[in-house]
Amino acid sequence: MNIVPLREGVLENIWPKFLLHDAVVTRYWDRIYGEYPEFQFALVDGGEIVAEGNSIPVHGRPAQFRDALLGVFERGGEPDRLCALAVMIAPSHRGRGLSRIMLEHMRGLSALFGGELVAPVRPTLKAEHPHVPIEEYAAWRREDGTHADPWLRTHERLGGQITGTADEAMLVEGSLDDWRSWTGVAFDHDGEYVVAGALVPVAVHDGRGVYREPCVWVEHALKRA
Ligand SMILES: CC(C)(COP(=O)(O)OP(=O)(O)OC[C@H]1O[C@@H](n2cnc3c(N)ncnc32)[C@H](O)[C@@H]1OP(=O)(O)O)[C@@H](O)C(=O)NCCC(=O)NCCS
Repeated sequence: MNIVPLREGVLENIWPKFLLHDAVVTRYWDRIYGEYPEFQFALVDGGEIVAEGNSIPVHGRPAQFRDALLGVFERGGEPDRLCALAVMIAPSHRGRGLSRIMLEHMRGLSALFGGELVAPVRPTLKAEHPHVPIEEYAAWRREDGTHADPWLRTHERLGGQITGTADEAMLVEGSLDDWRSWTGVAFDHDGEYVVAGALVPVAVHDGRGVYREPCVWVEHALKRA
């Protein structure tokens, strides 16, 4: 297995369909490959890309995930840390411990910025608890003290520390027809809808659906580790 540069995203079926419709992310995502190629990488196993990692140098800690892109492409400023954007394991290769290799590599890349890596984490199992506030979920621990969420646990095991939570890491807005085509849900009245893969309910009002995805901030400081 080896890590190689990644020129464009190739893995499919990673995210729920609706999540591909955040306006900021669709506007800027492709530019990370052309303008920050050294921070986009893939894990290759037997000639096949089995995982992808995306990160970007930022100036100050962004407010949340989509704000990292706004900071880089709209506000600018001298980068002083690396911000994780995504780690994606091909569905058929999950459960092999590959996420750890990807995160280790990202931590290594952050050495260029004094070893500061910040990660607006999308907790894997939050979608099973859409009504639990993110602050509460971020504090869930197992009896042995390790985090209840496997992806947060992986971050912590490598030296990351949870430092807070944020709302609107992703913002997806659309007509009810958009939402029907993304999810297969009927959306036939105003109110809150639990949708597969969504970390919080989708709010429907006056013919529009709005999804505000929260995240958990994890900070890795190599100097501290
Ligand atoms: C989140 C993700 C990167 C984790 O990678 P993975 O290869 O599945 O996980 P690993 O094999 O490295 O295991 C990491 C931990 O998750 C646990 N885990 C893996 N699959 C699990 C599942 N389906 N349910 C519960 N725990 C699971 C592992 O047991 C391990 O925990 P532990 O060793 O502390 O007990 C991967 O599932 C993924 O790509 N998901 C879709 C994209 C995404 O959400 N990325 C993260 C946000 S950027």
